[in-house]
Amino acid sequence: MKRHPHPSRGRRSTPQGEHRPVLLAEVLAALDPQPGQVVVDATIGWAGHAVELLRHVGPSGRLVGFDFDADNLPHARARLEALGCPFSLHQGNFAGLPTILAAEGITAIDGVLADLGMSSMQVDDAERGFSYVRDGPLDMRMDRSRGRTAAQLLAALSEEDLRQALHDLGDEPEADRIARAIVRARQSAPIERTADLVRIIREATDGDAKQAWRLHPKPGQWNLHPAARTFQVLRILVNRELANLEQLLRVLPAVLNPGGRAAIISFHSGEDRLVKVAFRDGLAAGLYSRIAPDPIRAGFEERSANPRARSAKLRWAERSGS
Ligand SMILES: C[S@@+](CC[C@H](N)C(=O)[O-])C[C@H]1O[C@@H](n2cnc3c(N)ncnc32)[C@H](O)[C@@H]1O
Repeated sequence: MKRHPHPSRGRRSTPQGEHRPVLLAEVLAALDPQPGQVVVDATIGWAGHAVELLRHVGPSGRLVGFDFDADNLPHARARLEALGCPFSLHQGNFAGLPTILAAEGITAIDGVLADLGMSSMQVDDAERGFSYVRDGPLDMRMDRSRGRTAAQLLAALSEEDLRQALHDLGDEPEADRIARAIVRARQSAPIERTADLVRIIREATDGDAKQAWRLHPKPGQWNLHPAARTFQVLRILVNRELANLEQLLRVLPAVLNPGGRAAIISFHSGEDRLVKVAFRDGLAAGLYSRIAPDPIRAGFEERSANPRARSAKLRWAERSGS
């Protein structure tokens, strides 16, 4: 695959209000977007990857972008407009990719990127409830127009379902204690703020005493915040992230042109497993002609400069046919 220069070299950490695109050079190498092609950014965010994709397909190509989170679209639009090349943006779930493409009169595409999870801007905004270091309402919905909030989910799940989710989706070693503590706490008052949930988890796991943690640790000194796994699990449940990814993986072969490529960046082992199996099975079934033999990880420089890159895994697949 072609090497593309790394646009984020030389900076140390992601400033507040900015989202540094992860594995950008590797995504461009995997999708290899060419002038005149139609490409989709299924998770446009603030268009960090999309700007480069659109630049490559140019004025004769087209980019279609969508995001669950309507708040992202004006920022993405402003950045893409500066290029003067054709694009369109939609608020929506990438699980509905074929429907959104059909609405645009597009039957097949040459490339698609999904950069899963949440953006730095979503985490930085305390009102969204994604952050365990900023107090805010326990919302966690990427699409704030529908669905149950994290607070509503915490009020409704049984202790066993909570324990199971923390164990299966979060590999949380303290799943039993955290689930029990949440159920006990909600008997006295609803858990509605991120700070309340963090306190409950800390008390249940003795987090302060046992697990000194650092937000920007030196290499090798990282300790996970005691609430990190619980927050990630809640976010995955609130946004039905695994079900949406499964649906995207199911429809991909039908929307890709022969030779078209899909690239997916995941940050969670459950997501990466789904991508790996879908691409491997697609290769065996002849739907894909080539897939990434191994997940592509960020290099040392990017991992040092951007904490999000540390857990990122990129996989790609190429649609068969010519
Ligand atoms: C990691 S960010 C993408 C950042 C983007 N690549 C950039 O460089 O600016 C992931 C985005 O995907 C969106 N998202 C997550 N699940 C989605 C889904 N099922 N459908 C559409 N967008 C989704 C989130 O709202 C978030 O804005």
